[in-house]
Amino acid sequence: MHTVTDIATLRESLAEARRQGRRIGLVPTMGNLHDGHLALVAAARERADYVVASIFVNPLQFGAGEDIASYPRTLDEDRARLARAGCDLLFAPGHETLYPQGTTAQTTVQVPEVSEGLCGANRPGHFSGVATVVSMLFNLFQPDLACFGSKDFQQLAVIRKLVADLHFPVEVVGVPIVRAEDGLALSSRNGYLSAEQRARAPRLYATLCQVRDALERGTAREEALRQGLARLAEDGFKPDYLELRRYDDLAAVSDDTRMAVLLGAAHLGPARLIDNLAVTLP
Ligand code: PAJ
Repeated sequence: MHTVTDIATLRESLAEARRQGRRIGLVPTMGNLHDGHLALVAAARERADYVVASIFVNPLQFGAGEDIASYPRTLDEDRARLARAGCDLLFAPGHETLYPQGTTAQTTVQVPEVSEGLCGANRPGHFSGVATVVSMLFNLFQPDLACFGSKDFQQLAVIRKLVADLHFPVEVVGVPIVRAEDGLALSSRNGYLSAEQRARAPRLYATLCQVRDALERGTAREEALRQGLARLAEDGFKPDYLELRRYDDLAAVSDDTRMAVLLGAAHLGPARLIDNLAVTLP
């Protein structure tokens, strides 16, 4: 696997792959890779014959007071993992490569509606930062397909709308959530948890499962969500939200919605955890 850090070499490597008629699959990440990221590489390998990953801790998507300075950076281990997983090329640019003039005067991409509410409400500017860097990566790589995890369900919805609205010729592949044996969705931010918090963290998923079961049994929506929030608070989480949205576009549910998604975000000690589950409403 080659690692490149500059745009000119990246473009040369991709041009060569394209000349060979290879189908290019992109896996964008911020590094500190775990089995969730590697599932994206595996999904890309199944669908493409030249798999490229990026590692870039994108300053534009971190708010003031968020964890950009402490975000875990483990490039050597990440490179070894990607090579073992069958990745062909890694792009790991410095900030100045993608943002040569800094981020304040940067052209940005806004994706309305789907970026609002949920994580968008608690992290203003976050999804614009994601949409901007993903647009940049799509322009740099011009991939045939790109893989994203459904752990970040709202992010996936934002990217699907970005691709549709701006007519990017990229197939977006959504990959199911990879979980630890106890149910906790794998995340680079789980590393912030103490042993005691890590033992409690799977209760976020357990609570989502309980709320889903209650909803599927016919419990009133507001009551099921209220109970879920109360349970999270009892377990020592500080919930940001627990909401039910339409599965396809994250719009508000109505009385006739059947396919929904239950999304939760909660702080546990130093970490902000997110998770989601599909729900079939009765
Ligand atoms: P990052 O948090 O590193 O995640 C990279 C990709 O891995 C995302 O598509 C995310 O949804 C996926 N992922 C993370 N944990 C997962 C899990 N447990 N199961 C399945 N997929 C998982 O998301 C970002 O980086 C950034 O916002 C990025 C898209 C790279 C733009 O900067």
